[in-house]
Amino acid sequence: MSKWKHKHILDLASFSLEDYSSVMELSHRFRNQPLKGVRKLPALQGRLVSTLFFEPSTRTRSSFELAAKNLSADVQSFTPSTSSISKGESLIDTALTYVAMGADILIVRHNCANVPEQLANELDKTKTNTSILNAGDGLHSHPSQGLLDLYTLANHFKPEQPLPIALSGKRIVIVGDILHSRVARSNLWALTGCGADVILCGPSSLLPSCFSEFVSSPPPGISNDPVVNRGQISIKRDLDEALCDADAVMTLRLQKERMHENLITDLRRYHYEYGLTHERLKSCGKKIPVLHPGPANRGVEISSSLLEDRSICLIEEQVKNGISVRMAILYLVATGKGLTSK
Ligand code: NCD
Repeated sequence: MSKWKHKHILDLASFSLEDYSSVMELSHRFRNQPLKGVRKLPALQGRLVSTLFFEPSTRTRSSFELAAKNLSADVQSFTPSTSSISKGESLIDTALTYVAMGADILIVRHNCANVPEQLANELDKTKTNTSILNAGDGLHSHPSQGLLDLYTLANHFKPEQPLPIALSGKRIVIVGDILHSRVARSNLWALTGCGADVILCGPSSLLPSCFSEFVSSPPPGISNDPVVNRGQISIKRDLDEALCDADAVMTLRLQKERMHENLITDLRRYHYEYGLTHERLKSCGKKIPVLHPGPANRGVEISSSLLEDRSICLIEEQVKNGISVRMAILYLVATGKGLTSK
């Protein structure tokens, strides 16, 4: 039986190959679980999962809530606008209130980086067993999205065995607003952690030269990289060149709400230079899958017809897999163990 060592899941930079394997194995099990007419598995019966989202969300929140319900956990969700946050209550006091009500897992999204980590540190001081799962913090990290993208790609390349080895040596392009994307940052560590090479692509306003520090160094804040053979990271400005020998491409939305100034003034030109279309993919010679974490802006980072083309665009698969992957991480964190038998 494999032991799971992360009490909280705050980012993926600290994940080892074994951690990725545990998540992927279990996700695959949950995805293919014959439910025999029963929708729920009893694994987390009696556990309380609370979702604390201080930032909007369509997919992540519903997916976590559904995942928790599929495992028979009780689910409680928090809405900041109608809570005592509007009366000046602090974040930690809000979190402690949910802990006092018996929450076993708090799923936290916030627009400031490191809020989930700070809450985890504060909770640990109180000796509670409650776990924190980061559901997206500022520009920093979005671990569950990174894991579901990882699983989706592995399952695309090797459906019979979607494990890290399926990604080893693959070349994955991430294109678009990388500067503001926590999804890109989490994917960077997840993909290279499984031995894939990542090519970051975008104009210098959305992919500034400071990203080149990732090219040669271990993940920030990690002195001993838990991954021995990490894939390479490189930067390319020209999308057609980047796509030339790519095995998959992930495109990202322009996150206007996080831009202090309008970094892209001409959307038509941006689409021409960095937008994904059938024509652009055709010119790279082979059929490669397209990922998008959603929400998508049609006609900007991706054409409408490509977004809807399920033979190429895996956006629907990502949403579906998101539920099994989140079931896996809820299970691992709640029980502290991976698969017991094949
Ligand atoms: C992303 C996020 O919130 O970071 N969406 C998501 O969780 N699926 C990306 C985005 O907002 O563009």
